[in-house]
Amino acid sequence: MDTIRGLMEFIDRVPTAFHAVKEIATALESAGYARLSEGERWALRSGGRYYVTRNQSSIIAFRLPETGVGHFQVVASHGDSPSFKLKPAFSESAEGCALVNVEKYGGMLMSTWLDRPLSVAGRLVVSGADGLETRLVNLDSDVALIPNLPIHFNRNANDGVALNAQVDMLPIVGMEGADLLAAVAESAGVEKDAVAGADLFLYNRQRAGVFGVDSAFIAAPRLDDLECAYTSLRAFLQAEPGSHTDVLCVFDNEEVGSGTRQGAESAFLLETLRRVVRTVEGDPQALESVLARSFMVSADNAHAAHPNHAEKYDKDNRVRMNGGVVIKSNASQKYATDGLSAALFARVCEEAGVPVQRFSNRSDIAGGSTLGNIAVTSVSMPAVDIGLAQLAMHSACETAGVRDVDYMVKALRAFYEAEISIKEGSAELT
Ligand code: CO
Repeated sequence: MDTIRGLMEFIDRVPTAFHAVKEIATALESAGYARLSEGERWALRSGGRYYVTRNQSSIIAFRLPETGVGHFQVVASHGDSPSFKLKPAFSESAEGCALVNVEKYGGMLMSTWLDRPLSVAGRLVVSGADGLETRLVNLDSDVALIPNLPIHFNRNANDGVALNAQVDMLPIVGMEGADLLAAVAESAGVEKDAVAGADLFLYNRQRAGVFGVDSAFIAAPRLDDLECAYTSLRAFLQAEPGSHTDVLCVFDNEEVGSGTRQGAESAFLLETLRRVVRTVEGDPQALESVLARSFMVSADNAHAAHPNHAEKYDKDNRVRMNGGVVIKSNASQKYATDGLSAALFARVCEEAGVPVQRFSNRSDIAGGSTLGNIAVTSVSMPAVDIGLAQLAMHSACETAGVRDVDYMVKALRAFYEAEISIKEGSAELT
């Protein structure tokens, strides 16, 4: 229950990827991790614990062994979730109401954002005497709502509604004249005139909670992928160090394809690992040989078979909530998993006493993608895609299994604590 409570508090405190990085950095610092800056020289000592951020929205932490680098054992997840981003000029009004002009961030189920209290959070750019500064902001109160059209004006609403992001999804934030930007500035402790820029998002105000007569499920916004971000952080902090380098990554921008300066497709991970190897090993050939012996677990939630729509899932490769960690496979390699990486990770779980489930989409349904396969195109190491089974992915409120949260922490802790030995065509666990 301690883990599930921790996860729910984490979700409640993390409305955006910026806040995810802030929470993770705070947890790492209390555990003795030192902050590195990409723009400065790194002096690393053996056994050292470090972390580095990029754009304040992606984070990589690592823990060196007592000698050298060994190899890397990486767990990667993402801290962003589908949402609506405020446009640069966002104040509008209609019919006596103040509205906010927003656009989609990622592919959400838009209807789930209707008729529920929303708030605004993100990053504010403030101009001061010495230049531009950034402040994380979170209004942390019910300030916005996107109202539905009544059934009387859309009698076919229950047969499906086509929602237009430009027309249907603008939230009301007060009566005409209500000033959202002034409220955001005030929450950051600055005058509205000092605001020079912003990266602001709407978020669902619903708090994470457990439900079911047997308390089997958790309902919360942003379970994809804060469930994996939180459980991997927890496992990383709990794991005993070994003779390899443990790495924790939480990337931004997975929901918009990862192709950004700080996303999983960027050079952030490669540049970080290269810098670690060069600084510690001082050997120009070391990077390639270290990467070839390394292993990545890409952790992003999976689709639990929907009890009302069993026909949408593959007959033999479907998964359930509370059934354990899911290993995801796809022939087109939207998932990085192959036979060897799946078998290796299944063995880690088996030795940790964690049940494993196998997921593959129906052959006539495209399904989704994630960050593992994108990351290993530039950081070339064997990888497996895993996740926890959840319902209603990309809804404003998603559902997952309570028991799975502990399973994931146990599995990832066991992964960090195992000594994985990779050779071309073989893998060993010691
Ligand atoms: Co995801």
